[in-house]
Amino acid sequence: MDGIGKQKLPNLYDALSDETLEAVETLSEKQPTTMRDVRDIKESILNANPPPFTSQLPRQDNSGEEADTRNPFENLKQPANSRVKQVWAIGGGKGGVGKSLIASSLAITLARNGNKVVAIDLDLGGANLHTTLGVDLPKQTLSDFFAKRVPNLEACSTPTGLKNLEIISGAQDSVNVANLKFAQKVKLLESLREIDADYLIIDLGAGTTFNTLDFFLYADVGLITLLPEPTSIENAYRFIKSAYFRRLRLAKHLSPIRNLIEVAMDAKNGLGIKSPSDLFREVNKSSPEAGLRLKEEIDKFKPKLLLNQARTQTDVDIGFSVKTVCKKYFGIEMDYVGYLDYDSAVGQAVRRKRPLVTEFPNCN
Ligand SMILES: Nc1ncnc2c1ncn2[C@@H]1O[C@H](COP(=O)(O)OP(=O)(O)OP(=O)(O)O)[C@@H](O)[C@H]1O
Ligand SMILES: [Mg+2]
Repeated sequence: MDGIGKQKLPNLYDALSDETLEAVETLSEKQPTTMRDVRDIKESILNANPPPFTSQLPRQDNSGEEADTRNPFENLKQPANSRVKQVWAIGGGKGGVGKSLIASSLAITLARNGNKVVAIDLDLGGANLHTTLGVDLPKQTLSDFFAKRVPNLEACSTPTGLKNLEIISGAQDSVNVANLKFAQKVKLLESLREIDADYLIIDLGAGTTFNTLDFFLYADVGLITLLPEPTSIENAYRFIKSAYFRRLRLAKHLSPIRNLIEVAMDAKNGLGIKSPSDLFREVNKSSPEAGLRLKEEIDKFKPKLLLNQARTQTDVDIGFSVKTVCKKYFGIEMDYVGYLDYDSAVGQAVRRKRPLVTEFPNCN
């Protein structure tokens, strides 16, 4: 880590979170640190956004107070006889990490195995899942659903040309995650399990807006994608932490300690709570019973992690480092499900507007 020591870059270094630094340090211990690695890491630290450990979620990202304070899961109506077995959401803090590619590959694979699958593009600000699935923009999109031009969500489901697989394409107009109204979000969540499918695969947009976090938390399985780059690792942590706090904040049975959770979300809080494990300690101190409930809620949060564009064993190991750091600082048991190699076939498939797994069935 020569050249990026604390003394040399005090302000920037201090601005970075402990866990990001630890991950970067773990990595640089593992790999033979060449000058290029040092430059890359230094570069990414220099270009880092303000403190990644700031759990205070950015106000400008949200549709006002409403998105922040109201709980979309409270009183959420669910159809009694839903066919849906599982909802998957593919997220990750950063843009361009392969969320859409993985969502479409997963959807195609499940469909090929005989399941009826609907892939849903909830990247409301930059919908392009149809492109990774190799279809033209469907006539009906979520814009029609939000504008009530269609009777229900199912009416937006369009065949992809691939057996068992349909798509609900993202909104193509000014409706986006930043201005999706609370009531629209609830209506959308309530409608999801009315869809006639075994699996719903949700492709999320980048960032940590409350709407994106809520879609992620709604899913039965949340998959976080990251690239083996410090900036991506940092954004993945930010995403995990934001989703984690959002979940705790919305949990009904944690309402007695909601104030404390909110205090903890302010990175500059006077109680010195800097990490979710600090929060746990603080809660436990005043009420072991509340601590137990908090622990139960933490234990239920088990996002999966997938590393994309691996080129070396060191890249693959990043998944393990992230898992270790999440356990240590958040108390979260991440499930590192595996990695995808970097493969130039991906770029070719995207340029040809063809799904990767149909265009190159034998690619890694
Ligand atoms: N395993 C891979 N090997 C090579 N290139 C890849 C791989 N995965 C993704 N890419 C490249 O990264 C690009 C971005 O992928 P994708 O659009 O799936 O990311 P995203 O996370 O959905 O981005 P956004 O946040 O902008 O929606 C793709 O166009 C593709 O060229
Ligand atoms: Mg995408």
